[in-house]
Amino acid sequence: MTLLGPGPADVRTAAEALRRGGLVAFPTETVYGLGADASDSDAVAKIFAAKGRPADHPVIVHLGAADALTDWAQDVPDVAWALAERFWPGPLTLILRRGAHVPLAVTGGQDTVGLRVPAHPVALDLLTEFGGGLAAPSANRFGRVSPTTAAHVLSELGTVVDHVVDGGPCTVGLESTILDLTGNRPRLLRPGGLTRADLSEVLGDEPQTPQAGGPRAPGRLESHYAPTTPLQVVPADDVGAVVRACTTSGRTAAVLSLAPPDGEQPGVRWVTMPNGSREYGQVLYARLREADTWRRDLLVVERPPVTPAWEAVHDRLGRAAADRPTT
Ligand code: TXA
Ligand code: MG
Repeated sequence: MTLLGPGPADVRTAAEALRRGGLVAFPTETVYGLGADASDSDAVAKIFAAKGRPADHPVIVHLGAADALTDWAQDVPDVAWALAERFWPGPLTLILRRGAHVPLAVTGGQDTVGLRVPAHPVALDLLTEFGGGLAAPSANRFGRVSPTTAAHVLSELGTVVDHVVDGGPCTVGLESTILDLTGNRPRLLRPGGLTRADLSEVLGDEPQTPQAGGPRAPGRLESHYAPTTPLQVVPADDVGAVVRACTTSGRTAAVLSLAPPDGEQPGVRWVTMPNGSREYGQVLYARLREADTWRRDLLVVERPPVTPAWEAVHDRLGRAAADRPTT
């Protein structure tokens, strides 16, 4: 494994490794991706092995430009072109009908494919140099928190990738918004870097949310994006009481809150999070990983405001807390 920089020589090295069927982790504006040649089933299989991900889960194909859409999808509706025009490069994944030659390894055996043009300059350089589509899920082990720095990738997958390209910390910090365009109406499969309000600029209406029991996607499994430390999301007014209940029973706690603590409490580590939804989303995964290294018994997260701008943050916190003890 080598850690590569963002310069042209290193990007060439990364593209060569991909052409040989290797695995290269690379930065995007959302999170780091674990990339492989999307047209090479054997290379894509390595992604699943490295992540420990079940083979029936589809991966997103990253493209260098929107005009490559027709190489990967068929029956592309007008609305897809309009969304691509407005939001690509950017944190939006479109689910479309799979092009005939797209390997089933990429689509998890489904007839649809997820496509996006990422906005990170290094990702775009790499895609241009490589010249094809890159299958890339988030570069973390299955079920764990997505990486937002090269160091996160190294700590988790450093031994199984050919290269990690360091493009600095991700600016969005949460995964892309996923919009399914294969049905009668656009459906939001995963809230993310773009809000419903952003999408409605092009769609006219806000997208529908699929009903429970709809198509399965790993980003939609209950317990996903989970840190190792049990995590509980609590209303601001209850943070103090939950923390006290924890410490009086002899356990240690860490707190991610929006407001600074009233005072020092023994056995408690406080982290004050940003008050804006974008800034919060940008650092959330890094803070969750950091909190894990403190090995506390409980991570108490103050519930952020319940407004549309915070939808993606609530979604990820809910998953991080799923199937966790409530005390
Ligand atoms: O921001 C992102 O989307 C990042 C960066 C690396 O681009 N990627 C990412 O990939 O989050 P991953 O594999 O961790 O999550 C991709 C999600 C999964 O929930 C997957 O099921 C869904 O996209 N997906 C991909 N193709 C799909 C398809 N054909 N139908 C339904 N869902 C699909
Ligand atoms: Mg992921």
